Amino acid sequence: MSIKDNINLDKLPEHIAIIMDGNGRWAQEKGHDRLFGHLHGVESVRNIVEGAAELGIHYLTLYAFSTENWLRPQEEVTGLMELLIDTIRKEVPTLNKNNIRLHVIGATDMMPEHARQALQEAISETSTNTGLNLVMALSYSSRWEIIHTTQKIAQDVLNGKLLPEDINQEVYSNYLSTAGIPDPELMIRTSGEHRISNFLLYQLAYTELYFTQTLWPDFRKDNLYEAIIDFQQRQRRFGKTGDQLKKNIIEEKN
Ligand code: IPE
Ligand code: IPE
Ligand code: MG
Repeated sequence: MSIKDNINLDKLPEHIAIIMDGNGRWAQEKGHDRLFGHLHGVESVRNIVEGAAELGIHYLTLYAFSTENWLRPQEEVTGLMELLIDTIRKEVPTLNKNNIRLHVIGATDMMPEHARQALQEAISETSTNTGLNLVMALSYSSRWEIIHTTQKIAQDVLNGKLLPEDINQEVYSNYLSTAGIPDPELMIRTSGEHRISNFLLYQLAYTELYFTQTLWPDFRKDNLYEAIIDFQQRQRRFGKTGDQLKKNIIEEKN
């Protein structure tokens, strides 16, 4: 029996978000430079995207580059951008073959022009796919997103399109860059760090968090399955008591 057989397919998270961390340490442990780690991290991305699509997950958000990552050494930033563009260009046929639709969230205007163009092409070439929605968080940070969202809301209020008293959670969500995407039920971070690092702060309000020591370049489908199995054993209470939830289940059955 494989690990995958232990997953309850009726209780799959609709949206999984991942902080793909540990590429640099993985490479340095092996005596290589950090870019070598990023190169191998791409293999994990391919494997996990395939695994999520096979399972029938609807949304997978991958944190690939944060706004803070722009502060890394120039050589690493340039290398990462090149790798990203090269990968996205090459992967479009596979995305289409697997019915995967690409989305991007983040301050992409900070990216070089040719990178933005490659992204735009990949987004439009996969726009009619109806399977897994792959959301790449690029040049993304949650505080950037929240500020940007607030600016857009303020502009609409100023233009008379929106009344301040009409702003509620639903309206607010629709101004975020994740508009239309349900909040993640499960967030995974690799490499043993226990922090959010400016990722989806608003959307993760009730998300189950899963941390693993595994470094991203070693993370494979079986690791994803383990995280999903762990998630499926948790009781999500949303502020209620365990007894209330049990009662709801009994009432639903009757
Ligand atoms: C994650 O790996 C990839 C990016 C942030 C781009 P890191 O590059 O952060 O690797 P570590 O955490 O330094 O090992
Ligand atoms: C978070 O990883 C960002 C991405 C995985 C893209 P970092 O490696 O940048 O996070 P910190 O600096 O350890 O918090
Ligand atoms: Mg890191």
